[in-house]
Amino acid sequence: MARLLVTGAAGFIGANFVHYWLARYPDDRLVVLDLLTYAGNRASLAAAEGDPRFRFVQGDINDEALVGQLLREERLDTIVNFAAESHVDRSIHGPDPFVQTNIVGTHSLLKAAKAVWLDASFGGRPHRFHHVSTDEVYGSLASADPAFTESTPYAPNSPYSASKAAADHLVRAYHHTYGLQVTTSNCSNNYGPYQFPEKLIPLVLLNILHGKALPIYGDGENIRDWLYVEDHCQGIERVLNKGRAGEVYNIGGNNEWTNIEIVRLICRLMDERFAADPGLRRRFPESPAGEGKGAAGLITFVTDRPGHDRRYAINASKISAELGYQPQETFESGIARTVDWYLANEPWWRAVMDGSYRQWLETQYGG
Ligand code: NAD
Ligand code: DAU
Repeated sequence: MARLLVTGAAGFIGANFVHYWLARYPDDRLVVLDLLTYAGNRASLAAAEGDPRFRFVQGDINDEALVGQLLREERLDTIVNFAAESHVDRSIHGPDPFVQTNIVGTHSLLKAAKAVWLDASFGGRPHRFHHVSTDEVYGSLASADPAFTESTPYAPNSPYSASKAAADHLVRAYHHTYGLQVTTSNCSNNYGPYQFPEKLIPLVLLNILHGKALPIYGDGENIRDWLYVEDHCQGIERVLNKGRAGEVYNIGGNNEWTNIEIVRLICRLMDERFAADPGLRRRFPESPAGEGKGAAGLITFVTDRPGHDRRYAINASKISAELGYQPQETFESGIARTVDWYLANEPWWRAVMDGSYRQWLETQYGG
């Protein structure tokens, strides 16, 4: 039986992780700590609210006293740190919150964990600090380069990836210097339910529904390695259960696509959904299908992202060989599930898009 502090779980991956974990570990306790920034959405945790194993705390990972108090009063033995500023474009326009949350915030969590778990009163009991990181710390690959392994040198290119890289180093240092039981996972691009519509896949889906341009940065030939979010959760689960302290594990789907290919695929899937269900035209009259047109007509090439990494690809053979990790979702089924989830969960994304989830929060939970 484990007692987990899950930070940043009102965000995309953290929320999926909470649902994944509650469904599989009936005896575990989950305390969520989330600041509810623009990316945090308590509605994504609605299915867990009311579960006696679950507690939501609105707060900042920079608040070392609060974290220490939660670790003690809830007798928590595991931290899974999802909390972060996560969007590369935002980091280019305003890096400060990335430094504050991703670097200083992670360090604050480490300090709190060290103070509580390495204190004599904790009695040397097993503990684990798992840090959720990204493949972007390894930099950009050329088309013929081998995929990133755990020993690929760090070469972050954006303020976002630089801040994640700094945090990874601090996590490593707390193991080597103080003996804190840490693990880190570096994962590729995730997709699936509850993703904030600033990221490529949900942005494209929702723009099609509203008949808006689908912005493709540069030539659209940048490559990402896409993983269904539940498979990321499965990878973290394996690291928490069997991963060796002090180790780093890459998680990926062996699933490289250029951006333009992904966008064309989503256009085709949406055209198929609209053709099969006339109700969609009534619900989304601004979509191209409403005028008998294909979604791909919305594709618009725009100015490239500054410093845009060309290609990411993960070599996941370490986690596969050591921990038995295998992605369960094929890309075909995962992207279809994602399209259908966004079509079936209009209230969720409408609330996210107009910001009214904050109001919803107050009416549901009193703030
Ligand atoms: P997200 O932006 O959807 O969610 C981030 C969450 O963190 C939000 O709920 C936000 O309110 C919370 N948060 C932000 N600052 C906080 C603070 N100071 N204190 C407490 N909570 C705070 O992010 P995501 O896409 O779910 O990513 C989660 C983690 O996984 C991040 O660390 C990210 O770097 C990493 N990651 C993401 C991907 C991906 O494809 N999305 C891939 C690999 C790794
Ligand atoms: O690789 C893991 C990373 O994946 C995570 O660490 C980040 O938190 C996550 O945001 C994601 O970063 P990317 O920059 O790869 O994701 P994004 O969805 O922003 O962009 C995916 C690709 O699509 C990228 O090459 C930029 C491009 N793009 C993105 C947007 C939003 C476009 O062409 N047009 C767009 O409008």
